[in-house]
Amino acid sequence: MHVFLGITGASGAPYAARLLEALGAAGCEVGVCASRAGIEVLATELYGDARLSPDETMARFLEHGLLGNGGSATTLYDQQDWRAPYASGSAKVDAYVICPCSMGTLGTIASGAMSNLIHRAASVALKEGRKLVLVPRETPLSDIHLDNMLRVRRAGAVVLFAAPGFYHGAQTVDDLVDFVVARCLDHVGVEHALTRRWGQE
Ligand SMILES: Cc1cc2nc3c(=O)[nH]c(=O)nc-3n(C[C@H](O)[C@H](O)[C@H](O)COP(=O)(O)O)c2cc1C
Repeated sequence: MHVFLGITGASGAPYAARLLEALGAAGCEVGVCASRAGIEVLATELYGDARLSPDETMARFLEHGLLGNGGSATTLYDQQDWRAPYASGSAKVDAYVICPCSMGTLGTIASGAMSNLIHRAASVALKEGRKLVLVPRETPLSDIHLDNMLRVRRAGAVVLFAAPGFYHGAQTVDDLVDFVVARCLDHVGVEHALTRRWGQE
């Protein structure tokens, strides 16, 4: 499968890292693009240093892809790279995931505006009728957030809130991360064994 992974500036970097690992492990070709705020959140939440340079942050982040497919099928794109395949519907892409998805990016997608490759990729997914999974994290939610989520949902996106459940016997933070990532993979259509499914022994 060919998957676009957009990373924006909402809390939830561990979800993005685990998702990249799982996509790599499943043998997916993955195009990664992070917004400026997204890179800052990765640096803060994964590496404990908000001042880590963007290049170093992304180099470290892409190592998560190495855990799966050797990294050969993971490519990093700049957020202003309009020549990237994800900027056009003519490129063959199976699914688009924005994880984590800030309310800023969600609102931009809902408005139809496109000021970076992540917005553009989401817009392409919607206009082409392809799978788009958005993983927002914010609380509490304003009327504007709720309106925007309804708007993208009605346009065809899956709004998969970063809201892990506790009913599968989570013991660790990693288990909670896996819960959300597993639901993402289900919607993207990638096989995984990250969590036990409800009703399974
Ligand atoms: C450490 C950190 C955590 C943040 N957490 C959130 C969040 O959980 N949800 C959110 O919508 N915005 C959050 N923000 C604010 C967004 O990053 C900000 O609105 C930014 O403009 C979003 O831009 P982007 O969508 O291009 O990444 C956070 C910012 C930082 C630096």
